[in-house]
Amino acid sequence: ATQQRSYHERVLDHYNNPRNVGSMQKNNADVGTGLVGAPACGDVMKLQIKVDPNNDTITDVKFKTFGCGSAIASSSYLTELVRGMTLEQAGKIRNTEIAKELCLPPVKLHCSMLAEDAIKSAITNYYTKNPKAKQTDLGGT
Ligand code: FES
Ligand code: FES
Repeated sequence: ATQQRSYHERVLDHYNNPRNVGSMQKNNADVGTGLVGAPACGDVMKLQIKVDPNNDTITDVKFKTFGCGSAIASSSYLTELVRGMTLEQAGKIRNTEIAKELCLPPVKLHCSMLAEDAIKSAITNYYTKNPKAKQTDLGGT
């Protein structure tokens, strides 16, 4: 047996025990909501962040994903990753980091892309609601 956990183990752990499933009050000023879909398969991910306006830090994260196991695992892992990050740090997360952590095979790369799109969309939504907050350059993809 190998020391490396396999794709299935990593994905199944998050799939069977997804972290931070749920939703937040979308109308609250300190909540940013991202809702994105994957054109390739029609899967949908909703990701919400709660932000401390004093230091632009993500204090809570919730997600709901209607999609495949890899998409659920990607969003679950992402929620663990971004908690405690500043918006700027969270905006720099790339799907390749998620895919690498979960050992996603190439055919499942777009599932992790959904998670990257979702966090960016949530940050953008937060800034739309809080135009005075410092703008983060989310970069291109
Ligand atoms: Fe079947 Fe995503 S394409 S679950
Ligand atoms: Fe479409 Fe995973 S198969 S998000």
